[in-house]
Amino acid sequence: AKVDEAEFVKSSVRTEDCPSDGLPEFALVGRSNVGKSSLLNSLVRRKKLALTSKKPGKTQCINHFRVNDSWYLVDLPGYGYAAAPQDLRTDWNKFTKDYFLNRSTLVSVFLLIDASIPTKKIDLDYASWLGENQIPMTLVFTKCDKRKKKKNGGKRPDENVSNFLELIRGFFETAPPWIMTSSVTNQGRDEILLHMAQLRNY
Ligand code: GTP
Ligand code: MG
Repeated sequence: AKVDEAEFVKSSVRTEDCPSDGLPEFALVGRSNVGKSSLLNSLVRRKKLALTSKKPGKTQCINHFRVNDSWYLVDLPGYGYAAAPQDLRTDWNKFTKDYFLNRSTLVSVFLLIDASIPTKKIDLDYASWLGENQIPMTLVFTKCDKRKKKKNGGKRPDENVSNFLELIRGFFETAPPWIMTSSVTNQGRDEILLHMAQLRNY
């Protein structure tokens, strides 16, 4: 499960405009600022392939990156970014949900959850929506390198992770696979790539 090459292919705002070559793909989704673009860069070992930012709301389209000329990683806009104008936010919701429901080459959604903060309701809502719609999903916990801080409720990443897993039991018939990661230390990178390779070979 090695990445030899990765290239940006295109940005789309509608499912119909996404690449039509039929290659399998994996979409990275999660709250704004959770670390989707950073994870993508970590997976392909490139610092700036996908643009990242300290400010939430950086990624605004469906961005396709082709890996090894044979599959795609897809960077999506984040949800739950309160400072985005309401109409823009609804639009993102509409087009990402349409993408999940209608993109036939989508093998699995990778739902990213920030392990450095306590569980957010919007993440539970998202996980529940994916479960209800039976969209294949893998959970990826991000920022596992962060130490506990008073201001995030004083919980360690592993405590936040077990709390989240407990709260989503019942949303799924079979518990989704989950992986702990950090784009700073590259924890979890090989595990994700291996998991994606296994999913592609079904
Ligand atoms: P949007 O495109 O706005 O939805 O955000 P995103 O989910 O793509 O997040 P992005 O990758 O731009 O990262 C947001 C911020 O979190 C940046 O300042 C990153 O450096 C930081 N960050 C991302 N991943 C990690 C991580 O694993 N550990 C730490 N400590 N910081 C991270
Ligand atoms: Mg982004």
